[in-house]
Amino acid sequence: MRFFSLLTVVATLLGAVSAATLPVKHEPKCAHEEVVSTTYIGKDKNVKLQLSHCDDELLVDAHGNLVTTLTKRQSSNVCGAPCNTYCWSSATGAPTISDCTVIEHALLYESQNTGVLFNVSAYGTPTNKVTMQYLTCLTYFLNQDFNTLTYCRTEWSKLVNWLASDCSAANNDHGGLCVATDQRWYVQVQHS
Ligand SMILES: *[C@@H]1O[C@H](CO)[C@@H](O)[C@H](O)[C@H]1NC(C)=O
Repeated sequence: MRFFSLLTVVATLLGAVSAATLPVKHEPKCAHEEVVSTTYIGKDKNVKLQLSHCDDELLVDAHGNLVTTLTKRQSSNVCGAPCNTYCWSSATGAPTISDCTVIEHALLYESQNTGVLFNVSAYGTPTNKVTMQYLTCLTYFLNQDFNTLTYCRTEWSKLVNWLASDCSAANNDHGGLCVATDQRWYVQVQHS
């Protein structure tokens, strides 16, 4: 698995958007990924699904402060909640859109056959990261809240479609992420 240079991401985000509190990845992500389970989903059972945890994968702001909040009063169903999209510029290293489309379809298949909603355990538990991968395309949902969050496969599918096409090589980008406006979670699409 290939990881993006964080400095590139930071530079790109800071260059693209001037907001001072923009959440950015500050550390090389996931130096120590601990995978709890691996299964295959979709009609053809060809999309890899992993539950894991990375102790270094929280978003931090430009000053290195943790971007997350205690949210016990808030609803934990964040299906359809708004998120802000950030693409990483650079024409190389983008996932192939048709590979992402396979994940997009597998998510819709699972939403019809397994259920629309799924839970992602809280930050600090061994399974707060849910990753899907097919060939060059990798996407994950990261819960950085201190509560279990409920999300939906239909929305994830839309985000994979959106991020893969909007943050594509054709747009001089190589993937990106959508960060919840309340910053409790984000969905990333990148090269595997
Ligand atoms: C998610 O967790 C809640 C609380 O434990 C539970 O009531 C609900 O059935 C779970 N939903 C799914 C889709 O697993």
